[in-house]
Amino acid sequence: MANPQTRAGQYLLDENILAWAQEVHVSDPTVSGQALQRAFQSPSQHNIPPIQIGPLEAGLLRWLVASAGAKTVVEIGTLAGYSAIAMAQSLPEHGSLWTLELDPAHAAIARDNLEAAKLPCATEVLVGPATDSLASLAKQGPFDVVFVDADKESYPAYGRWAAQNLAPGGLLIADNVFLFGQLLDSSPVAQAMREFHQQVTEHFHTACIPTPDGLLVGRRRKNS
Ligand SMILES: C[S@@+](CC[C@H](N)C(=O)[O-])C[C@H]1O[C@@H](n2cnc3c(N)ncnc32)[C@H](O)[C@@H]1O
Repeated sequence: MANPQTRAGQYLLDENILAWAQEVHVSDPTVSGQALQRAFQSPSQHNIPPIQIGPLEAGLLRWLVASAGAKTVVEIGTLAGYSAIAMAQSLPEHGSLWTLELDPAHAAIARDNLEAAKLPCATEVLVGPATDSLASLAKQGPFDVVFVDADKESYPAYGRWAAQNLAPGGLLIADNVFLFGQLLDSSPVAQAMREFHQQVTEHFHTACIPTPDGLLVGRRRKNS
């Protein structure tokens, strides 16, 4: 049951509730959980920006990839490999995850974390501007899941690529679709993010989940 506050998008969440929910739904003492934890802590330890998704969102990604029965995932924006590991943990042994990263230092940290995670599936970190990596990756498609979490001004290009390279029924997931609260600004990046929202509705059945900064999920239309 919603109330006027939650309906208006106001959060009843506080740090203690968040910590409790993470403990119940995400905490995992096994090797998989430790690998995820290691990747989560990596940015602070390596002095790179701690801009990875939160643990509850990682749980949601893992759940979405598993529910889709995905075998192939393309991630745009690797950082230290936290979300990549979360998604790869839901892939089968013969599955593959490609994750795309501009910064070679981030990619090196992610490769270490992915290796330490001892994942059952194949994983590859592709270094360079995502638009270049996507162009060469296309021949390996169609893919089951595309997760977008990199430079926000390029979201329309990433959305177009996803529409062309996801299998019918495949999942597009994008983080930060409220653009840190600036979605309705007049800046070029805000215009690009609004264009992304509108454009994906043409090719995907979409839902916009009000996570702290918005998570868009879309299932590729069969006839698009
Ligand atoms: C928000 S972080 C990704 C976080 C990661 N998905 C996670 O939750 O663990 C965004 C990453 O995208 C990378 N990036 C930014 N622009 C990019 C581009 N044009 N191509 C590829 N990667 C890019 C950044 O270097 C950064 O590591």
